[in-house]
Amino acid sequence: MLSVENINAELNTKFLARKIIYLPETSSTNTEAWKYIEDKTMNGSLIITDYQTSGKGRRKNAWSSFPGKSLTFSIILFAKDYSSKLSIFPLLTGISIVNGILSSIYIQTGLKWPNDIMLSRKKMGGILIESKLLDNNPVTVIGIGLNINEQIVNFPNSIKNHATSLSIYSKKQFNRERILAEILNEFEVMLYKDTDEIITLWEKNCIHNNSCVSFHSENKKYNGIFQGIGEDGYARIKINENIKKFSSGLITL
Ligand code: BTN
Repeated sequence: MLSVENINAELNTKFLARKIIYLPETSSTNTEAWKYIEDKTMNGSLIITDYQTSGKGRRKNAWSSFPGKSLTFSIILFAKDYSSKLSIFPLLTGISIVNGILSSIYIQTGLKWPNDIMLSRKKMGGILIESKLLDNNPVTVIGIGLNINEQIVNFPNSIKNHATSLSIYSKKQFNRERILAEILNEFEVMLYKDTDEIITLWEKNCIHNNSCVSFHSENKKYNGIFQGIGEDGYARIKINENIKKFSSGLITL
């Protein structure tokens, strides 16, 4: 079982996760987080569970998690103060996860555009960012799911070939609170970095930068060379000598 005390012991943030709502079981931490959006004192709060029973993924997919093995959590941000960064929240979140895992357990993970955390070319985590306007101000819920101590038998058959966990990769068990706290410590630092720096860091950690990729967007499939991220946060893909920009899509490596 996750311990809020152990999370606090490793946190060195000023405002992030200074309020923690721990739920032994819930349908989705993102859904839970939206219940608090009228309460401005919840800025930076963390909602976390040991067992997410109906997790939401991107593109209307489900996110499955095995009880007590993973990290499934959401951060509430009243994003007015960071509105210039809204479009790069997925990038900023991805780098915080990669850096947090590296500094806590010395495993190098990588990023796949737009929102995947990768380990030996398999998916070990994902990010679901949901935003709404409340009285004309953006409110954002950043949902993160990370496979930490799962074994292959804990994954549903449908994802067994494409998913991995830190434990499957290293054959070790990890302290989830320590990894979480390091990710949150990194996240708060990233919030104050310039967009240029975040983009450069993201590209450095991307596992397919300057490589050939297959790309699906709006029911079309393209083959091209991934050429990093523009200032607007859009992916740049070179297709037949022309650079095309995409705000969303799905990359196959
Ligand atoms: C994806 O790769 O499709 C994104 C997965 C995001 C899953 C996390 S788990 C915590 C939070 N609550 C949810 O219901 N989803 C996100």
